[in-house]
Parts: sequence; structure tokens; C-alpha cells
Amino acid sequence: KQDTKEKDGTYGNMEASLTARDRVGIQDFVLLDAYTSESAFLDNLRKRFHENLIYTYIGTLLVSVNPYKELDIYSKKQMDTYMGVNFFELPPHIYALADNVFRTMQSEFNNHFILISGESGAGKTEASKKILQFYAVSCPSTKLLNNVRDRLLLSNPVLEAFGNAKTLKNDNSSRFGKYMDIQFDHQGGAVGGHILSYLLEKSRVVHQNHGERNFHIFYQLVEGGEEDLLRWLGLERNCQHYSYLVQGGCAKVSSINDKSDWRMVQKALSVIEFNESDIEHLFGIIASVLHLGNIKFVADVRGYASLNNNQEMHWVSKLLGIPAQVLQQGLTHRKIEAKAEEVFSPFSVDHAVYARDALAKAIYGRTFNWLVNKINESLANKDSSRKTVIGLLDIYGFEVFNVNSFEQFCINYCNEKLQQLFIQLTLKSEQEEYEMEGIEWEPVPYFNNKIICDLVEEKHRGIISLLDEECLRPGEATDLTLLEKMEETIGGHPHFVTHKLADQKTRKTLERGDFRLLHYAGEVTYCVVGFLDKNNDLLYRNGKEVMRQSKNAIIKHCFPSTEPDSKRRPETVVTQFKSSLVGLTEILMSKEPWYVRCIKPNEAKQPGRFDDVLVRHQVKYLGLMEHLRVRRAGFAYRRKYDIFLQRYKPLCPDTWPNWKGTAAEGVRCLIKHLGYKPDEYKMGRSKIFIRHPRTLFATEDAFQVCKHKLATRIQAKYKGYRVKGDYQKQRDAATKIENCWRGIMARKEREKRAWAVKVIKKFIKGFITRNQPACNDNSEYLAYVRQNYLTRLRENLPKTVLEKDSWLTPPPIMKEASQLLKKLYIRHMVGKYVQGITPQRKAQVQSTFLSAEDINIKVLQMIQHEHIKYSVPVVKYDRNGFRPRLRQLIFTQEAAYLVEEAKIKQRIDYISLKGVSVSNLSDNFLILHVTCDDIKQKGDLVLQCDYLFEALTKLSVIANKQNYIKVVQGSVRFDIQPGREGFVDFKSGQESMVYRAKNGHLMVVSVKIIKGSC
Ligand SMILES: Nc1ncnc2c1ncn2[C@@H]1O[C@H](COP(=O)(O)OP(=O)(O)OP(=O)(O)O)[C@@H](O)[C@H]1O
Ligand SMILES: [Mg+2]
Repeated sequence: KQDTKEKDGTYGNMEASLTARDRVGIQDFVLLDAYTSESAFLDNLRKRFHENLIYTYIGTLLVSVNPYKELDIYSKKQMDTYMGVNFFELPPHIYALADNVFRTMQSEFNNHFILISGESGAGKTEASKKILQFYAVSCPSTKLLNNVRDRLLLSNPVLEAFGNAKTLKNDNSSRFGKYMDIQFDHQGGAVGGHILSYLLEKSRVVHQNHGERNFHIFYQLVEGGEEDLLRWLGLERNCQHYSYLVQGGCAKVSSINDKSDWRMVQKALSVIEFNESDIEHLFGIIASVLHLGNIKFVADVRGYASLNNNQEMHWVSKLLGIPAQVLQQGLTHRKIEAKAEEVFSPFSVDHAVYARDALAKAIYGRTFNWLVNKINESLANKDSSRKTVIGLLDIYGFEVFNVNSFEQFCINYCNEKLQQLFIQLTLKSEQEEYEMEGIEWEPVPYFNNKIICDLVEEKHRGIISLLDEECLRPGEATDLTLLEKMEETIGGHPHFVTHKLADQKTRKTLERGDFRLLHYAGEVTYCVVGFLDKNNDLLYRNGKEVMRQSKNAIIKHCFPSTEPDSKRRPETVVTQFKSSLVGLTEILMSKEPWYVRCIKPNEAKQPGRFDDVLVRHQVKYLGLMEHLRVRRAGFAYRRKYDIFLQRYKPLCPDTWPNWKGTAAEGVRCLIKHLGYKPDEYKMGRSKIFIRHPRTLFATEDAFQVCKHKLATRIQAKYKGYRVKGDYQKQRDAATKIENCWRGIMARKEREKRAWAVKVIKKFIKGFITRNQPACNDNSEYLAYVRQNYLTRLRENLPKTVLEKDSWLTPPPIMKEASQLLKKLYIRHMVGKYVQGITPQRKAQVQSTFLSAEDINIKVLQMIQHEHIKYSVPVVKYDRNGFRPRLRQLIFTQEAAYLVEEAKIKQRIDYISLKGVSVSNLSDNFLILHVTCDDIKQKGDLVLQCDYLFEALTKLSVIANKQNYIKVVQGSVRFDIQPGREGFVDFKSGQESMVYRAKNGHLMVVSVKIIKGSC
């Protein structure tokens, strides 16, 4: 959304109006071709009104027609819709204006005001409430700000209760002027507020025209007040009992719910920090006004006023905290100071009634001012940082009744002043703009109401001066002498006429006591009766003094003892009002203006009725046609170059999608392409000015056509962009996760490495110091070495006793342990073997231990001396041909003998026994290797013994040659005789066999022993 906060802002809404123009009228009068025609203006307004489109723009000015029914256009949703949106993007709405003011204030950091004008019942107060509600919702909120927001919002029902009343024109007519500042901090939070009130119509307290009511609060109190409260105030729940409430004859109105309004006011008072005593005093005053109204006077014998209604007096006295006596004196007597003396002069009945009413008006009027001040205290922002403000001016509209009095004179004068301001500000800004942009411009004629303002306010000659003069002059001044004076002084003025001065025709429409002013908004005939009195607003001096004795805190505050004495006359009402308007003008002139012009569609307060004559009149006097003319005088449309280019650049291939040069050049190029004629437009310094709406309509129509095409393209691009975006997001996410994961892994790896380095370092240190005595450095290493050796040992233990040589070599520190373990293990194996021997086998084994008797006697004799230790039968394989021969093998202490019967075949000294070879198979073969130095000596013996283990065990024990036994695999070489070698090959097979193989080797085949059978 582009920002169109350009100050002129005037044409910001225009483009949107262009698209909707044919549907329901046009949304901006500036685009009306027949802009000078009041009828065309009215037609458009009517058309839209009947479609419930009550808002229409003239540039940034908002015209609002009172719908007299609830429309569904003020919801929170609507507020959200209008928040932060460009003026021209949505249909006209009061929210759009409010939002635009707010955003302009925010961006330019300056002050603004919204002038809401229109006649009574046109919807000014409603409009101001809508604006306030919009800010309450749209501005940033915090707990503190919400507090201010609630007070701002709730100040309305309170002020309306005390300052609004039912009139013939409006059931909720504001009877005071209200200017409210909302203060914003630099973040846009509503941080405070201030209310200025103007000229409350006090006369209403004591008098109402037929069909009108007193101020709402009286009825609310009587209808809604709790029983206890009413009892305490001495009131009855019946409005008819109070003479101040029934003069209009319509205390009850169907459109007003006094009871619920009462509850609302109660709630509001508590939010605006009215404490119990404030509320007590406040309603004490309201009730005392009602009681005052009921006080009746009768003439005594001398014709002076006396009281005959002590009950009412009692209540007033109680509620205001003034002794009854004092009060009574005050109401029936007037104090006259004569030299040093004070004299009380009694009133006539009429005088007394007058004094009573004056007192009631004074009490109510001052209490109203107190109320405004009290609300201001509650809204005040104590923070001194710089604020910007938006002012809301909801002031009484131009009023014309059948009988118009002093109040209407003041109200209409106020409207003249505001019209002046309006003319000045709108014309000034317009003129300035043309000047600034270097555009030639012919000033547009318009009616300047300065002449009327002067008629009213000019020094010495103006009506106000004359009125004041008449009030102050000594002697018998009356309303009629005032009229005469006016006729004398300003008789010739074109805007002033009286019965006397009028021509024949006009005279018929005027009473003798009337004067007529030709206001900018129309003629108003004022009845001069009461002017002096109301302008003086005199409260007899002792009336004030009586009030000063009050114990009621509010009254005490309202009638301070420091008040300037009546010796110096107080300013008249109209002079006060005039200066307050000067003050208001100053306040407004220092701010940027925005306008809401409210129009009343009919006098009957009915929805759906559009009274052409009535509306035409308002359109006229609200200056709408003039405003429109001024807007259109030069050029109907103007736009900053960049904004114009931004919207319409798709219409020219050179400017779409992007224009490289300056915006002004881009616009020149664009309008050349569009074929604008030279008299249709002007190029200003920063803006393009287009003279006729139709030129713009054509451009806008072309844009609408082009927009759809573009929208499709943009949509496609956008979808692509979205998908790409999603993909990118996913990719980024994946990368992020990956990075995190890698980080985690790297950290783990680093930790692992650090740990490894530590371990390795320790290991190396341990290794270096492994041979030193156990210490810190090597303890772990040694433990590791021990464990490692033991683990390896466990996995590599010899399977059989025969493999005992394959015992794992121990590290130095384990040498001793290893030996012990080896011994233990061998023992264990032997034990296991022995345990595994069956008794049969044992017997068999034992039987093989041959005794000496089994040995041939001859042999025995020969070797007995050597101590025969063991004898066993063997098969000897011949050296030549490997033929098997049964023999006996005998071991003595000295040598091993191979014996055949009585013959010793071979003697082998243990010394010459070189070794014994056995196979790793179950063939029972053993080969005894002998040292053969002598060539004639027999060679090695190839034997087979069924008791191989016993025999070998014996041999190793006897000959002490444990290490000589070698277990071989495959093949054994042996010496058949010295120098002649032979071979025995071992293998396993299906069947045991021994034979001479073709290669001359002795082939021994044995059946493979099934594991565990040994
Ligand atoms: N926008 C609106 N939507 C619905 N009703 C509205 C709207 N504006 C005004 N009204 C009706 O019109 C009535 C009169 O409006 P409002 O009190 O705002 O008039 P006013 O211009 O302030 O008159 P006065 O000058 O007498 O104070 C309201 O009470 C309400 O019923
Ligand atoms: Mg109002």
C-alpha cells in the first residue's frame, strides 16, 4: 500500500471512486462532471443515501448524511478494514478520514483538527463519537493507555447527560459547543485529552419550548435513580412533579431510555474518577435545582414575594448546605448597598421568580463548567514530552427556529466564524498549492461571509458592541431600545433588516420586535425580547453571597469568595462568547484542518426520507458547492508524479514495469502514450494536474482492463515466488539442521580424539616406563599388558599336553605368573586326562608294565645291573623294506634296548639319543633318533607301540629327556644308518595302514581320532 499522506490529500480517494462511479453515484464529488449543478450534486447524494451510502467525499472533505437508522458499518471489522489503508482504496467512510488524519499526524508530527459542522440533528455528535471510537480501537494500547481511552470514551455520556437535551430538531441535541483535544505520544498512543466547552444553553434549565425537554440528567435521575438516592435527595419518581421538567410537555420520549442512560452515566462517573462525595454533591445540586423550580411565591399584603412552600426550601437548604433562613432571604430580597449601609429590599413575585430562575441557571451552568474541569483533570496527561493532538470540534450547528432568541444569535454567529475559517483555510491552501506548483490560477469567486461577521462583531458598530453598550448604559435600557439603536447604527447594512426598515413585502414577515440577519446560511429572524437580560445573565449579588455559604463542595468551588465583586461588572455573555470564539479560532488556525459536513435529510428524524429542499438548502449554506467549485476551479485532479506513475505505469510499455528516469519524465512519457491533449493537463513542479474528470475516467478505465491481465501475471509470479520461497526456506532449514548435526558430530569427534590422545599419551608413557616399578604412569599400561596377555593366553591355550611348547611367550612382567599358570594348566590337563581314563584302560595300562619276569632271562642277566625300569612290546619296522618285526623295548637306567627274544638287537645310550619323533596323528609310531658317529652303527629306530604315551612318558622321565620329544606333522626324516636317510610319511585316512610307498617312504595311515575320544 502506498502512502498518500500528502497534505492536500484531496484527491487521494479519487481512483477508487472512479471504479465505483457508475454503480452508486460517485464517491467523490470532485469527479462529478456537472460540478456546478446543485441538482447533479443532490442527485448523487440522494442516490447514495437511498443505498445507505451516507458518506461521500469532496476531496478530503467528508459529506455525511444522517441515516436516522443503525447501519452495519461501524463494527470492529470495519475499523480494521480502514486501518492503515489509503484514503482512495475503500469507499468513503468517517473511519477513512479519521485514519488519514491520524496517519498524517504520525508521519508529519503536527497537529490537526476535524471540524464537524451541520445543523442541529445532522449527526455531528454521532460523527465525533465514531471518530473517538475509531481511535480507541486503532491506536496502540497498553494498560495505561486503555485507562485514558476509557476516560475519553466515557466523558461523552457524562457530558451528553448534562449538556444535551431533546429539542424539536434533535432528541439528543448538544446544547453546548465542544472542542476536544486528543493527545497522542510519538508512538500514536492516546495519552490524554482536554475539553473546551462553549456557551451552555442555560436558559433551558428553567424554560423549555413546547416539545422540548430540559437536560437529560434531570430525567435520568428521576427515572433511573435508586430508591435510596431519591429518598435522600427528597425526590419522587415522577417527572410531572417538577415544574422545570414539564414545560415542554414531553418528559417521556420513546427514543430515549433514561433508565439505561442513568446506568451508563453512573459507570462513566466511576471511570472518570468521581468519588462518592463528588457524586453525592453533584446529584445534590441537580436535585436542588428541581426543588428550586418547585418553590412558589405568593404576594403578601404589601405585594412582596413570600414563600409558601417550605418543604422545597427545606430540601434545597439541606442539599446545598445553606441555612434555610439565608436561602429564603436570598430568594425574596435584594441587597442594596447604600454608602456604608446594606439594605435588603423585598422582591415582587415576578422578581422573586426571576431571581430563583437566575439562581437555578447559575448553579447549573457553573456546575457544568466544574464537570468539564473535573473531566479534564481526569484526562490530563502529566507527562511533559511533546505530544501531537487531533482536535474534534462538535459545535452547535446553524439553528433556525420559529422564534429565535439570544442563544440562536450566538450559535449562528459561531457558525459564521467557523465558515470564515473554513473559507480562509480551504482557499488559502488551494491558492498556495497552485503557487507552489507554479500553475497559473484564476481565483474563483465565492461568497465571503466576512461582511456578516463584521456586522455582528465589529467594534463600536457591530451588533455585539451595541448589545453590550445597551446592557451597560445607565438608564432605562430595554430590548426595544436595543432594536432602535441597531436600526440607527446599522440600518443600511445589506444583511440586516427590521420591521421598520423593511420594504412592504418583507415587513409582512416581520414582527415589530424582530430583526433579521441574512446569514451565509440563510435568513434568520431574531426576536429581540430577552436579549439584554440573557446577555447580562445577572445573578443578584446576594444570590452569589448566599451560594458562598454552601457546604456543598461543588457549589463552594463554583462560587468562590475570591470572585470579583459585582462592583466591577462582569463581562457580558456575548462578549465572553466572542472572546472564547477568538480563542477557538486561534487554536484551530494553528492546526491542519479536516472537515466533516453533516447533512440532515429530513425534519421528521425518519430513515429513508430525503427532503430535496431541505438538503439543497444545507448543501448551499454549508458551502459545499463553493468548496467543490474551488476544488475544481483549476484542475479536477492532481497527483504527485510518483503516485500517478505508480498507478498508471502499466498503460505504457515504456514505463512498465519500471521507469528508470524521474517520475515527472515518466508521467510525461505515459501521458504522451495515452494521447492527452495539451489543454487537458498541466505539469506542476511535483504534481500532474488534470483538468477534466473524463480524461481521468478514460485513463482509469484503461487501467481497470489492464489490471486484470496484470493481476493474472502477478498472481502467477507470486505463486512461483511463494513456492520458491518455501523451497528456499526448506533448504535453509535443511542446511541449518545439517550444520547443527555436523557441529554435534565434530564436537563428539573432537572429544573422542582428545580422549584418544590422552589415552595414547598415557599408553606411550606407560610403555616407556613399563620396566620401572609400578607407578601412576605405568599402572594402567601394565594392567593392560596383563589383561592383554591373559586374554590372548586364554585364546591360545595348548589343546593337548603334547602342545605344551606352544605356550604363549609372556611379557616380562608376566614371566613368573606365566610359569605358574603353565604349570597349573598342564597339571590341570594331566589331571583331566587321568580322570578320563576308565578302570579297564587303567588295568590294561598297568598290565603293559612288564615285570622283569617277562624279559628273557638271558637278556635280563645282561642288563639287570642297569636297573630295568620299563618294558613294552613294540613293532619295529625294518630298515630295509620296512617289514614289521615284533620286538621288546626295554628302558633301563642307562639305555633303551630293542630285544628280540634273548637277543639284544640294539642298545641306545640315553646320551646318544638325539630325539624322539612322533606324529600328531593316532598311529602310535615313534622314531628314536640316535647320534651315529660310527658308520657301522645301526641307525634310527622306527617303532610302533600300542602304549605310546606310557612308553614316551617313561622314557622322558628315565632319560630325563622331556624336551626331546617332537611332535611332527606330515613327514619325518630319519637315518636308516649313518649317511642313509629314510622317511616316514604320516597321514590320516579311512583305515589304518602301514606300507612302503612307491617313493620308498614308509607310509603310515591312521584313522582320524574323533575329538574328545582321547
Ligand atoms: N451515523 C449515524 N448513524 C445512525 N444514526 C445517526 C447517525 N448520525 C446521527 N444519527 C441519528 O441522528 C441523531 C442526531 O444526531 P446528533 O446528535 O449527532 O446530531 P447533532 O448534529 O450533534 O445535533 P445537535 O447540533 O443538535 O447536537 C442521533 O441521535 C442519531 O439517532
Ligand atoms: Mg450534537
